[in-house]
Amino acid sequence: MTYYSRVIGTGGYLPEKVLTNEEISKTVDTSDSWIYERTGIKSRHIAGADETASSMAEIAARQAIEMAQIDPETIDLIIVATGTPDRVYPSTGCLLQKRLGVKHAVAFDVQAACSGSIFGLSIADQYIKSGAAKTVLVVGSEVCSRIIDWTDRTTCILFGDGAGAILLTASEQQGILSTHIHSDGEYEELLYCPTSTEQQAGYISMRGNEVFKVAVNTLGRIVDETLEANDLNQSHVDWLVPHQANSRIIAATAKKLKLSMDQVIMTLEDQGNTSSASVLLAFNEGVRDGRIQRGQVVLLEAFGAGFTWGSALIKY
Ligand code: UT7
Repeated sequence: MTYYSRVIGTGGYLPEKVLTNEEISKTVDTSDSWIYERTGIKSRHIAGADETASSMAEIAARQAIEMAQIDPETIDLIIVATGTPDRVYPSTGCLLQKRLGVKHAVAFDVQAACSGSIFGLSIADQYIKSGAAKTVLVVGSEVCSRIIDWTDRTTCILFGDGAGAILLTASEQQGILSTHIHSDGEYEELLYCPTSTEQQAGYISMRGNEVFKVAVNTLGRIVDETLEANDLNQSHVDWLVPHQANSRIIAATAKKLKLSMDQVIMTLEDQGNTSSASVLLAFNEGVRDGRIQRGQVVLLEAFGAGFTWGSALIKY
């Protein structure tokens, strides 16, 4: 018997502190109008000094568990996607396991930059379909603010902090219809963040305009790949839940899917780019405010450093 991975819970957390474009314009040479027109971002959340990827992940995960109304002890796999782990090791997955007190789960991290949650969903789906796991928690959690050079106007305007969570369980009912993930390490120099063991400080470096062009083309291709694999066309997709990097990139993907922007879950304006957390934060928002309904088909997609990119088609 092959099981589907069915979504039974979602959660999200955003730190209390909000940093607006106006505030950033006081410290670097930029403006609210430039940032909003080029990116669609107005403000972002910034983690407090005592917050970490695992502390934010815990809040998002507990919300997902509460929505699913399951005993946390039944979770047998925890996957955390993060590029800003609490420590090099133990993994943030293990730290989250400890926080949740889920003794019997296997826990590990996935590092695929902004595509991390999609990679996490893909791994979770393979485990569930193969019968290796029954209930899987996937979390994307990021404190991007700690790997940003706040004097670099080309990157400091883009990113924010937060965590998104999704809980999946094996079901005979449809859930994840397919996942598609890809990598191309050739693009390292366009978008990277050195580790603290390298000579440079550990800040994000991005050639934004070049990344932008590859992202638009690549996300267009992943839409085709996903629909073809399921023998579906654009009209079958009810919602697009994209990685929130730039409103112009998102609009291009929506156009490719012939979706109006009303069918796109957008969180960018007041969250910025939360890297691996962004897709799960947006999915959680769409579920909790009632836009995404049971039985609807939702396309999640992301693109990030590596390059990495991927999609998950979910019948919610
Ligand atoms: O999440 C992972 C994947 N990441 C992405 O997908 C990000 C993709 N890239 C982007 O979203 C866009 O490329 C950016 C928003 C980062 C930049 O927008 P752009 O339209 O590609 O601008 P640009 O880099 O071509 O820069 C245009 C001009 C430059 O000035 P000159 O050379 O034309 O005189 C920049 O120096 O804008 C200047 N500029 C700024 N001006 C005011 C760059 N950053 C700023 C700023 N404020 N913050």
